[in-house]
Amino acid sequence: MTTRPRSIAAAVLVAAATLASGAVEAGEDAAIGRALFRRAWVPAPSATRADDGLGPHFDARACAACHPAGDRPAPALDRSGELPRGMIARAARPDGSPDPTYGHQLQAEAVTGLAPEARIRLVVSGSPRRFAVVASALADGPPAPDTVFSLRLAPALFGVGAIEAVPEAAIRALADPDDRDGDGISGRVSEVVDRQGDPRLGRWGFRATGIDLADQVAAAFSGDMGLSTARRPGPHGDCTESQTACRAAPAGSPDSAGEHEIDEAIVARIAAFLETLERPEAVAPSPRRAKDTARGAAIWANLGCAGCHAPLEGAGRTIWSDLLLHDMGPGLAAGDPAHPLAREWRTAPLLGLGDRLARRTPLLHDGRARTLEEAVSWHGGEASAAVRRWRAASPADRRALTDHLSTFR
Ligand code: HEC
Ligand code: HEC
Repeated sequence: MTTRPRSIAAAVLVAAATLASGAVEAGEDAAIGRALFRRAWVPAPSATRADDGLGPHFDARACAACHPAGDRPAPALDRSGELPRGMIARAARPDGSPDPTYGHQLQAEAVTGLAPEARIRLVVSGSPRRFAVVASALADGPPAPDTVFSLRLAPALFGVGAIEAVPEAAIRALADPDDRDGDGISGRVSEVVDRQGDPRLGRWGFRATGIDLADQVAAAFSGDMGLSTARRPGPHGDCTESQTACRAAPAGSPDSAGEHEIDEAIVARIAAFLETLERPEAVAPSPRRAKDTARGAAIWANLGCAGCHAPLEGAGRTIWSDLLLHDMGPGLAAGDPAHPLAREWRTAPLLGLGDRLARRTPLLHDGRARTLEEAVSWHGGEASAAVRRWRAASPADRRALTDHLSTFR
């Protein structure tokens, strides 16, 4: 049956109804996405085929097990011991490539009957604290001699919709790989290649390797949980060819709607849910919030922090990042500090920083920093001049800066 409106008024009604149902669908997708974000996946084979396929190696059973998406307190990272929730161990060789045996990530869990890749411990030392990772009981023999394991802490995902919405051209416009302007800051675009072999701009993850939100969700399903999608089709996740026991473990049933363990609609709905995560549900009161002053804003401008933490806008919010890669010096290096790739990080977006400071959420890629002061003191490399100015600032100026950053929403 064709709809043929008899009058303009009827046509408007039809259009309005179509729009409204689109909005309802978007809301429904996000609501389902929220449930999927919390769903615990199970190993195959299972009676409930729709949610099996976990592993064979994995680090957690649910996205929400690692990512705070509400009030969950930040993990305590004060003592050495088992890896806390949300922390993972990356494996990389100096050129950034994965370990030939263990892949991109060392998974601490495995399905029944298969040994986990390793026992992984967090070692905390020093003041300000620094983290190291010790892997023992490696299931498949030694890694490559030049492989380094390093830690990452799952970030809170508030404001990801804003990061996704920043136009690519705005990011490219800030790149200055050869430091032509001579300010000591030379951000470079993360150029990655998509499934079709086409060059794309990467913006997701601490090293800006993810192309878009759906791509990052698929990468999480594969790397963190061992679940396949059209974008990451291998049902054995991060298992390499040489991990024969892992390769022989049962894979999950295809999703009812597609040939992979996870259907594309699931990826899309989780991405839709993430886009609705604007800020934590219950914001902890921040005593500093009321005291923001013009002085704080002036100090922020004078220190040159915005040379990297640029006021790029997406979806009506300022993200405070150029989304470019910067050499941050040896203190933040993951691996051999002599290797440029080990020192490179995407400028951390500071959106939601006020909430995070109030909640004492751990900062930096591995969560080692407890305060703004600690986070800044770890900055080096291209940020050296900014850090020098920050160290030279008076205590009152630093307080004004903290007050200013506490207003970042
Ligand atoms: C085992 C813990 C763990 C699980 C499970 C996990 N993640 Fe993550 N996630 C991380 C870590 C760690 C990072 C940072 C990775 C990096 O950049 O090296 C991350 C990064 C991300 C990012 C990028 C954030 C940014 O600012 O760039 C998104 C989006 C994300 N995860 C979504 C998901 C979704 C969706 C799921 C479930 C399908 C999921 N994650 C499951 C640990 C986890
Ligand atoms: C050369 C670029 C650059 C400059 C200049 C710079 N930053 Fe950063 N900033 C980064 C990068 C890259 C990270 C992420 C490092 C990591 O995760 O290990 C970061 C992380 C942070 C974080 C932690 C955020 C989080 O989510 O974990 C804070 C806070 C911060 N910077 C504040 C500042 C302040 C204040 C200044 C000025 C004194 C400054 N930065 C100058 C690049 C820069």
